[in-house]
Amino acid sequence: MDQIRILGGKPLSGTIRISGAKNAALPLMAASLLTAETIRLSNLPHLADISTMTDLLAQLGVEIRMDGLAGNGGHAGRVLSLRAGAIAGTTAPYDLVRTMRASVLVLGPLLARAGRARVSLPGGCAIGNRPVDLHLWALSELGAEIELADGYIDARAPKGLRGADIVFPRVSVGATENAMMAAALAEGETVLANAAREPEIGDLADCLVEMGAEIEGIGTGVLSIRGVESLGGAEHAIVPDRIETGTYAMAAAITGGDIELKDTRCDLLDGVLDKLRETGLNITPTDTGFRASRAGDNRPLSAVDVETAPFPGFPTDLQAQMMALMSVAPGASVITETVFEDRFMHVSELARMGADITVDGASARVLGVDKLIGAEVMATDLRASVSLVLAGLAAEGETVINRVYHLDRGYERLEEKLSACGAEIERIKDGQ
Ligand code: UD1
Repeated sequence: MDQIRILGGKPLSGTIRISGAKNAALPLMAASLLTAETIRLSNLPHLADISTMTDLLAQLGVEIRMDGLAGNGGHAGRVLSLRAGAIAGTTAPYDLVRTMRASVLVLGPLLARAGRARVSLPGGCAIGNRPVDLHLWALSELGAEIELADGYIDARAPKGLRGADIVFPRVSVGATENAMMAAALAEGETVLANAAREPEIGDLADCLVEMGAEIEGIGTGVLSIRGVESLGGAEHAIVPDRIETGTYAMAAAITGGDIELKDTRCDLLDGVLDKLRETGLNITPTDTGFRASRAGDNRPLSAVDVETAPFPGFPTDLQAQMMALMSVAPGASVITETVFEDRFMHVSELARMGADITVDGASARVLGVDKLIGAEVMATDLRASVSLVLAGLAAEGETVINRVYHLDRGYERLEEKLSACGAEIERIKDGQ
């Protein structure tokens, strides 16, 4: 298995282009199952999860073409064309679903278009117990008959789906997306209340509208969807990745550097930028994004408390990175995780690098240390692994991160982007 080696302690300086959001791309790709016409997605990130979704959709009969490797040495956002002229299969098998939980996003579209879907119960990141009960409940409210057997979700809607009033008992990004896609082809009107409001959901809704869906309330917690008989093609540019943006802003903060983040948007992470300003990071908007800088600032970072919450709250997907940052901010900070159980697996790895963190239930108390020391550590999930990269960039000496396949699921060309800003970071290929 590949490793990443980092020689830390250098302030980073330079420009990083932010990729399209993985968490928008995956549901957008699944939405191609809703129409027989072509969906063209630009600004597609180059990630392992995208390849997994491509394989899954190909098995279901979607014709897929990748082109438009435009600019920046062929990396500045690819263009993917997807055409589900006919649905060739309705089963999402275990071997694909187990590597990526977001595979469950084909459930709503398959049901709505083909009246049948068999999807293996998902795996994905090892963060707590991540059920799909809300997805199944919402789809059954829309009239689907659902059974669980042999590790598979077996869903049928032989007479089609019908609109319903659905009030989610808790906010779920994936369940909102599955229900919204299914409702777009259901008969009559659906109201989704207590819906998730993440920008990636707005991005999916915008594309569905371009395909002919009738959706109101986009960007709010109440979505009204009037079902239509069929949907058409669309061309859509994927929203910038706010989690990648926040991660690299924190790389500037933790190394005392100065990084310009291009092709992104401040409004996607207002709350996060406010917190980062409180830590002492200067954020200056630019025409295409913003500059994150602590260069030449001799004041130490400030410790701030953070509690994760659904959008517009502080994203759980930036919690581990924030913890790495707080581990070198003098004073005490409390980081509380409210979205997922067991999302503190990075704590023991950060501790190997000298961080002083005590977990008490859903909160972690971080006492800033003078410096982190490089060590051999292990990535446990996607965002936990990048928190170790941040810690390694700030640490004295060498850090070696094992199991970096987690990183490849969600960070496009990470080593290249960081090296371009002066980081000493390299990938050691398996067997090298
Ligand atoms: C999405 C993101 C993930 C992010 C998460 C929260 C994608 C592909 N992934 O994941 O990166 O960390 O949102 O912002 O977009 N839950 C249930 N029952 C369900 C569904 C969810 O209890 O049926 C719980 C989950 O266990 C979790 C919480 O609800 O505690 C939020 O999960 P959810 O918003 O659904 O996350 P995902 O869509 O899986």
